[in-house]
Amino acid sequence: MKGALFDLDGVITDTAIYHFAAWRHLVKKHFNAELPDELEEKTKGVSREDSLQIILDYLDIKVSKEEFAALAAEKNQLYVHTLKNLSQNDILPGISKLLIDLKQHDIKIALASASKNGPFILKKLGLTDFFDAIVDPAKITSGKPAPDIFLAAAFALAISPYDCVGIEDSVAGVKAINSAGSVSIGVGGDELNHADKRFNNTADLNYQDILKAWETYNHN
Ligand code: BG6
Ligand code: MG
Repeated sequence: MKGALFDLDGVITDTAIYHFAAWRHLVKKHFNAELPDELEEKTKGVSREDSLQIILDYLDIKVSKEEFAALAAEKNQLYVHTLKNLSQNDILPGISKLLIDLKQHDIKIALASASKNGPFILKKLGLTDFFDAIVDPAKITSGKPAPDIFLAAAFALAISPYDCVGIEDSVAGVKAINSAGSVSIGVGGDELNHADKRFNNTADLNYQDILKAWETYNHN
């Protein structure tokens, strides 16, 4: 194991809930509609634009290109507003220790998040310096579940994807890691049973078990 490719929202910090809350707020305001809980998983790991399309399809609403762009921008404003008090206290349990342990074992660390707010959030959490590479999702043509962002993260570290683990909380993200040929570490419930190794929550993540998972499941 030479590299660790991290998702952000729902793995490093609990911003996954803020994303969906912002979508709910937007949809209530513009269309006076509610979104069911099931839609949250479908928008996890998925880009802002793809998430909006999934939501509009669910509501069976068609909008112009301009309206689409305006809705996406407004959702982001709502979302970013909820991040204003984000601090080191919002790093999920187990993550700081894991990052320290990975560094101590000379494992390179990359961010493979679909979020364009990734660098801003890492800064607020005080974690930027742990990352050897941060993939710019704007430069990735196919989002999760396509493997592209994890392949780009491994490439940025100059490490084979086979020598990496990817850590994800979303169904789409675990699929992306599996397709990239890295060992997938899922953080969440049974919906992530397609992960090579699953932990119920971030507090259970630790270097030794992740290394063991890589040794057991790597595709070299
Ligand atoms: C992912 C989230 O990390 O980032 C998705 O899981 C979100 O829910 C996506 O849509 C894009 O985020 P942003 O911050 O660029 O709107
Ligand atoms: Mg996530």
